[in-house]
Amino acid sequence: MVDAIIAEGLVKKYGRLVALDGLDLRVPEGTVTALLGPNGAGKTTAVRVFTTLLTPDSGRVTVAGIDVLREPRRLRSRIGASGQYAAVDEYLTGFENLEMVGRLYHLGVARSKQRARELLERFDLADAADRPVKGYSGGMRRRLDLAGALVANPPVLFLDEPTTGLDPRARLDLWDVIEELVAAGTTLLLTTQYMEEADRLADAIAVIDHGKVIARGTADELKTMVGGDRIELTVDHIDSLEVAREALAEFAVGEIHLEPGLRRITVPVSDGSQALVDAIGRLAAREVKIHDVGLRRPSLDDVFLTLTGHEARGSGAEDGDTGEGVA
Ligand SMILES: Nc1ncnc2c1ncn2[C@@H]1O[C@H](COP(=O)(O)OP(=O)(O)O)[C@@H](O)[C@H]1O
Ligand SMILES: [Mg+2]
Repeated sequence: MVDAIIAEGLVKKYGRLVALDGLDLRVPEGTVTALLGPNGAGKTTAVRVFTTLLTPDSGRVTVAGIDVLREPRRLRSRIGASGQYAAVDEYLTGFENLEMVGRLYHLGVARSKQRARELLERFDLADAADRPVKGYSGGMRRRLDLAGALVANPPVLFLDEPTTGLDPRARLDLWDVIEELVAAGTTLLLTTQYMEEADRLADAIAVIDHGKVIARGTADELKTMVGGDRIELTVDHIDSLEVAREALAEFAVGEIHLEPGLRRITVPVSDGSQALVDAIGRLAAREVKIHDVGLRRPSLDDVFLTLTGHEARGSGAEDGDTGEGVA
């Protein structure tokens, strides 16, 4: 497979601070890669390098077959980018914003207007097309910003934290939009702080920390690396713990953990939801009274803790904590 994005040994320093520390990354054409990492990991810096906005101190980078450092101008018409903070003009309408992007890409007046209308329709913004963006919700702004990235039909797309700061509903809407988009064959690099988002949207995940890719794989591979799904069960009576252990042994893909004091048992499982349903049935059959039961999936924090020995949060946050909510 041809790689649409190739980065080798990217280094970028801000004074003494090393933002990119030899970043290597490959994104095969027509696939989605999520660059997953906490605040300050270097995600935005990397995207700015890929999109010609920032020159690295060293390293090589090729996007859509074009050497980014040698031919930035030629590259610009072949990529689309949408930022962590929606870059739309507040005082223009949605339509005017997109039309302006079309003009910047030299699409011509008629084509720019047509493209603006198409995209507003597609992103469910047709009704708001003639209203100034000032009155748009956060979700509408992100959709408009994303539409802007698509005006020139670029084969390679960069989305920097597309859903950070959105409410859960708007996040789900945007995920749908992004999924449709990549179904059409666009190569996408998106950055995110959310394991769940990477899981849902990406074919491959590259985990970034301190300016370096520290692990790469599918969501399942990463979760397996940190131990995968676990059933956490609290029983009513301490006497039931041993019965529960026997009943659940067949689901365990690793060591079962007992905490008698808490009347709790933790069972590593694969195919978590199905295992949970089966396990509850098995416990009911043995008349084990369940106080509380749930499926615990690895979060970004678990992945980080396992890979680096430190928590994902609280390492070099530079722009306030936007990582609350879905994580
Ligand atoms: N213009 C800048 N000047 C100085 N330091 C910067 C600048 N931009 C980013 N940094 C620092 O570089 C590191 C990586 O930042 P960034 O790429 O924005 O991370 P992320 O997008 O993953 O949150 C952080 O420590 C950040 O504070
Ligand atoms: Mg960022």
